[in-house]
Amino acid sequence: MTVLVTGATGRVGSRLIPRLIANGVVVRALVRDSTRASALAEQGAEFVVGDLRDQESVETAMDGVEAVLHLGAAFRGVSPEEAERINNVSTVSLAEAAVARGVRRFVFTSTNLVYGPGRGRPAVESDELLAPASASYPSAKLKAERALQDIHEKTGLDLRILRLAFVYGDGDPHLREAMRWARNWPAHKRLHMVHHADVFQAVFLALRSEVGSWRAFNVADDAPVTTAELFELNGEHMPEERSLQVLDDPWEGIVSTRTIRSMLGFRPFYPTVWTARSSGCG
Ligand SMILES: NC(=O)c1ccc[n+]([C@@H]2O[C@H](COP(=O)([O-])OP(=O)(O)OC[C@H]3O[C@@H](n4cnc5c(N)ncnc54)[C@H](OP(=O)(O)O)[C@@H]3O)[C@@H](O)[C@H]2O)c1
Repeated sequence: MTVLVTGATGRVGSRLIPRLIANGVVVRALVRDSTRASALAEQGAEFVVGDLRDQESVETAMDGVEAVLHLGAAFRGVSPEEAERINNVSTVSLAEAAVARGVRRFVFTSTNLVYGPGRGRPAVESDELLAPASASYPSAKLKAERALQDIHEKTGLDLRILRLAFVYGDGDPHLREAMRWARNWPAHKRLHMVHHADVFQAVFLALRSEVGSWRAFNVADDAPVTTAELFELNGEHMPEERSLQVLDDPWEGIVSTRTIRSMLGFRPFYPTVWTARSSGCG
């Protein structure tokens, strides 16, 4: 299977592509800067230089591929306009190009932040998406999800949406960066996470499985980590006042993985961050 991968040089893409190649996927990477693609080329990926905002380069990159894996996104330190442009507008253009070029399958990495505030239980895929419009990244992903569903309904594009939890592992500094927020959280607030190896597992299953109509899947591990554990994992002492803080919504960001387990057979290689830590890859 030949797959066009956007966002190939990002944190997820650069860790995912070697795993895809090792599992027999022919990867064509869309990259903005060819010098940053040399590591991917050494691992066996083809690459095309282009930009998600440039429809011509995107369409050229799609020649002969069977699926698009759209990881490309803008959410670290970008303006709300850029977040909307890349995460929503360019996602829709990419899917339209896929339809125009006869590409059958489109896998889109969204985020569990699209669910918005909790519901007194883990979020399931059929829940209404309540990300507030003021949160530019999740609201742009939410709009993109809706637009992709419309395209699916009009054209039959085989659509799979992966709502990823907080991704960590394999030397990604993300777990460390989580302290930016977690430092001010109550001790018992939990963060749902997923290891890069399990993002690969979910993507691979989504690329290869036949699931009928469009589907969204939550992608997360089995044991959301508490703020108290995040302090410990990052070698920091948790101030006592964190234990006294009250948490309004203990379910925010927590998702059920029942659908991806039952439909795609997903079983996390790293069910908890502690498993990854003791294996030396967390
Ligand atoms: N990391 C997480 O915890 C997490 C959680 C939930 C969902 N996700 C989703 O997973 C996907 C990958 O996330 P990530 O952490 O790998 O993000 P990332 O490190 O910020 O990577 C984003 C990628 O998108 C590319 N990109 C941005 N603007 C582009 C443009 N105009 N044209 C072409 N490429 C462009 C970037 O290219 P350059 O390399 O050239 O900058 C980069 O390769 C995203 O869709 C994200 O929403 C991630």
